[in-house]
Amino acid sequence: MNTPHINAKKNDFSELVIMSGDPNRVTYIAENFLKNSIQITNVRSMLGFTGYYQDVLVSVMCHGMGIPSAAIYVEELINFYNVKKIVRVGTCGAVRKDIFLKDIVVAMGACTDSSFNRVRFNQYDFSAIANFDMLMKTMHYAKKMNICIHVGNFFTSDTFYVKDKILFDLLKKYNILGIDMETAGIYSLSAEYNIQSVAICCVSDHLTLNQKISVKDRSYAFDNIIKIALLTLIS
Ligand code: HPA
Repeated sequence: MNTPHINAKKNDFSELVIMSGDPNRVTYIAENFLKNSIQITNVRSMLGFTGYYQDVLVSVMCHGMGIPSAAIYVEELINFYNVKKIVRVGTCGAVRKDIFLKDIVVAMGACTDSSFNRVRFNQYDFSAIANFDMLMKTMHYAKKMNICIHVGNFFTSDTFYVKDKILFDLLKKYNILGIDMETAGIYSLSAEYNIQSVAICCVSDHLTLNQKISVKDRSYAFDNIIKIALLTLIS
């Protein structure tokens, strides 16, 4: 038996999972960072793998784009596969002048324009926050590896192609460091089901300066994030 969206067997997943939106990136992580990794699910080409990192069993699973997609995978991982810790590794946009392309931004919390959390939290405003222990570990390993990170608030948007200057000014004013499309949902589900999660992102788009990183820079910046994520996950 498996779930509607994951065809791995019941015990195929580790309790520790790295999640990312893109199946190619998930494959890259499994092939380049895990030992003896095997593909465990492929429904809709949303791939998942399990292998070893420093002799600890970890899984990598694709969550697609946006809260609705990510929520399906996160819920199935938690409720059917007994997953206990999730590190999201992804890309994000930035609006502030002191955050640059390729910078690493860790989401301490995430606001959202999505109704997902309001719907689930009886119309109240849910404060979607990272797990403190995992956040501390992320900071610890980044420091140990001499990698500069920004830690602060995210804005999780339902819309990728936004050209709303008023929104960008608001995000700047409220000190939003990263803009993505999943973190607020992953954090609220983690609270609801009492698991731990943290999101670590690389700035791929500067929305106010109209800049994007190249494919080559994207993978270089990513290697550092993956190392921090894996160490955070297994410690
Ligand atoms: N907006 C939302 N999500 C993103 C972005 C963005 O600009 N860049 C990478 N993920």
